[in-house]
Amino acid sequence: MKKLIAFIIVTGFLNASYSQTAYIPTAENLKNRQEFQDRKFGMFIHWGIYSLLADGEWVMFNKKIPYEKYSKIANEFYPHDFNANEWVQIAKAAGMKYITITSRHHDGFSMFNTKASSYNIMDATPYKKDPMKDLAAACKAEGLKLNFYYSLLDWGRKDYGFGKNIVNGRPEDTDWDSYINFMKTQLTELLTNYGDVVAGIWFDGDWERKTANWHYEEIYQLIHRLRPEVMISNNHHSDIKPGEDYQAFEKDLPGGNSHGWNSGGVSNLPLETCETINGAWGFNITDRNYKTSKALIQYLVKAAGHNANFLLNVGPQADGKIQQEFVDTLKKVGEWLQKNGESIYGTRGNVISTPEWGTVTQKDKKLFIHILNAPSQDFILLPRITQKVAGVQSFSSRQTLKWKQQPEGLFVYLPATALNETDEIIEVSVK
Ligand code: GLC
Repeated sequence: MKKLIAFIIVTGFLNASYSQTAYIPTAENLKNRQEFQDRKFGMFIHWGIYSLLADGEWVMFNKKIPYEKYSKIANEFYPHDFNANEWVQIAKAAGMKYITITSRHHDGFSMFNTKASSYNIMDATPYKKDPMKDLAAACKAEGLKLNFYYSLLDWGRKDYGFGKNIVNGRPEDTDWDSYINFMKTQLTELLTNYGDVVAGIWFDGDWERKTANWHYEEIYQLIHRLRPEVMISNNHHSDIKPGEDYQAFEKDLPGGNSHGWNSGGVSNLPLETCETINGAWGFNITDRNYKTSKALIQYLVKAAGHNANFLLNVGPQADGKIQQEFVDTLKKVGEWLQKNGESIYGTRGNVISTPEWGTVTQKDKKLFIHILNAPSQDFILLPRITQKVAGVQSFSSRQTLKWKQQPEGLFVYLPATALNETDEIIEVSVK
């Protein structure tokens, strides 16, 4: 008995330490992390058969539609206006450098060609084409990277057993191993059928069953074995787990918890925060609560100041079109980035702890002060700047500004003219 206990303790210990030390990212993976951080701004796309019902991606659950009924709408899904290149052009015009799209959401419907289930766009819809193929090709042609959102949660599959009790890490009376294998098969397809443009997997739905054994070690190892450079993120809302390559925050800047679900600490991994343009992820026909381009630009700036990327969502219609309201707003964000992108792309944040008035980004020998709310005094103080300052100027007018560097920090005197109300950018050159 003693021997058995000792064996369990030792193997338990080995397992625990193994899972914490096993993953060493490859050089390509580390390079991708840098490039990912340089790209800064991405397009999130929530698109599925739920788009037909025009009430968000949770419509089946929220409206209590039985799965057998819901799954039949697949037969009505025919996105005749879908044009991958058009989506990529909208993303590009917005200044976005990558796309993360729902390959399969919680409704369990696969928006790609899969052999693991017939509940997919090729077999269950009259469309019979794989939009992910087109999107991968369009992204590749335009130099954007493509990440696949992949839901862990599945409302329909028996082997997932939605609503079942979790006992010893598994849902009761289901074939949990079959579900894990199903996911592994699909992930293998996603990582091997769409080329090297695929740069990441974005998991979601873990929060639905916190006590389940998701077999992450096995799944993450599979991904990194197939494609060592591919970056894994998991929107589990808690501290990062071994094997993950970047950390996701949902509707909050890193460290924020305004909705009560972002409970994880901020890691040293690349960071990303996602947000919606109105209130919905999947297409919602009645949600007119559109954020302004100013609010979205300021969010992008704040994310960069927090050293995070910004993944901004669109939920295309079932016909494949992205609604005009979104396109117009994105265009304005893109026009702003055309002029001011130098202060965002390739920068890193956390230069100072975020003050009331805005934030700071940095690239090489330049600091970019972003004033988002005009301060009441005519100067700002950057306390943590230790590099020697060479000069300070307005980013837009190139006008030289007054400054002084003292032990308590760098004082920058603001231009006398009215500050740009979206973002007054001041460029500080350091030696
Ligand atoms: C939440 C929603 C999910 C959406 C995700 C995007 O997890 O439940 O539907 O895909 O946010 O971040």
